[in-house]
Amino acid sequence: MNDRPTRVLSGIQPSGTKHLGNYFGAMRQFVALQEEYPGECFYFIADYHALTTLRDAEALRSSVLELAATYLAIGVDPDKAALVRQSDVPEVTELTWLLSTVTGMGLLERATSYKDKVAKGISPNAGLFLYPVLMASDILIYDATLVPVGKDQIQHLEMAQDMGTHFNEAFGAEALVRPEWRLSKFAKVPGTDGEKMSTSYGNTIPLFETGKKLKKIVGRVVTDSTPLGEPLNPDDCNVFALLKLFVDDAGLEELDGWYRSGKRDGEPFGYGHAKQRLAQEIEAHFAPARARREHLLAHPDEVEQVLRRSADRARAIAQKTIARCKRACGLA
Ligand code: ADP
Ligand code: TRP
Repeated sequence: MNDRPTRVLSGIQPSGTKHLGNYFGAMRQFVALQEEYPGECFYFIADYHALTTLRDAEALRSSVLELAATYLAIGVDPDKAALVRQSDVPEVTELTWLLSTVTGMGLLERATSYKDKVAKGISPNAGLFLYPVLMASDILIYDATLVPVGKDQIQHLEMAQDMGTHFNEAFGAEALVRPEWRLSKFAKVPGTDGEKMSTSYGNTIPLFETGKKLKKIVGRVVTDSTPLGEPLNPDDCNVFALLKLFVDDAGLEELDGWYRSGKRDGEPFGYGHAKQRLAQEIEAHFAPARARREHLLAHPDEVEQVLRRSADRARAIAQKTIARCKRACGLA
């Protein structure tokens, strides 16, 4: 089953505003991969997963629409990639059950994201504990071979590989295909505090913010207290690390010079200037996507149409996989 042509799959939870970490760590690769593997890409909105933490039907519905619009706005092209709402493919939950019966408790107890959440005082529901099984099912149900993600998802990917292998071994069948992961060049984008940017750390820079609000957020990026005009070290600067996401090599070389000399065109240069540049870069970079997203949010029927079309394609594949798995384990 593993000499298959490449099939790409990835998903994102609809909760929270999408940020630079999501884009540079994951979503940008989605767009690149649809050019490499047109017709073989599946990107989805993990709304079942979101239910492990969200208890507000209206909020869930609107964040699903928002994420779908964001995917399309940043360049996911429905002619090349399916854009699937996870819950439109209920076979995913059926496979989750099958996989849970071949998955040891120990494997799930070792999941760092689960342990982190429990350590933070969240009282876990069984869904949160089973999160990696649902995620494995997302991947395995489409016979995906390549899963673009950020670094924090690698353990989940390893678990998905294990679950697929365990299922095949338990039933002596080649029912599930082994997936591999792919990391982006920016696998760990720093947040405003220099730690990994993450919704749960409150250190994010959102993709579509503009003007004063964006400047205020960028203003929070932590720097040392070197005074204006003194030499700065770009290798140890959170603002510079974020500028690297946007600025090409020639531009970075120029910035590097301003940092190390503390001067730009003979005038004093400091962190304030670097932050101003960062805010400009972010606003300009996402301007076209921001306009497309606004259009889509005002026309939710266009988004819904894409989701419906994608669901039909996705379900056809999922039904074949689940039939294969049920046959393998003796279900009707
Ligand atoms: P969050 O930590 O904000 O909740 P998610 O866990 O929903 O983000 O991540 C969605 C996708 O974005 C995943 O593939 C994840 O690996 C990637 N990602 C999230 N934050 C970062 C980051 N700071 N750097 C690189 N990739 C990231
Ligand atoms: N756990 C992923 C995240 O938090 C989202 C996700 C769910 C996913 N199912 C997936 C990612 C399958 C890749 C493949 O970002």
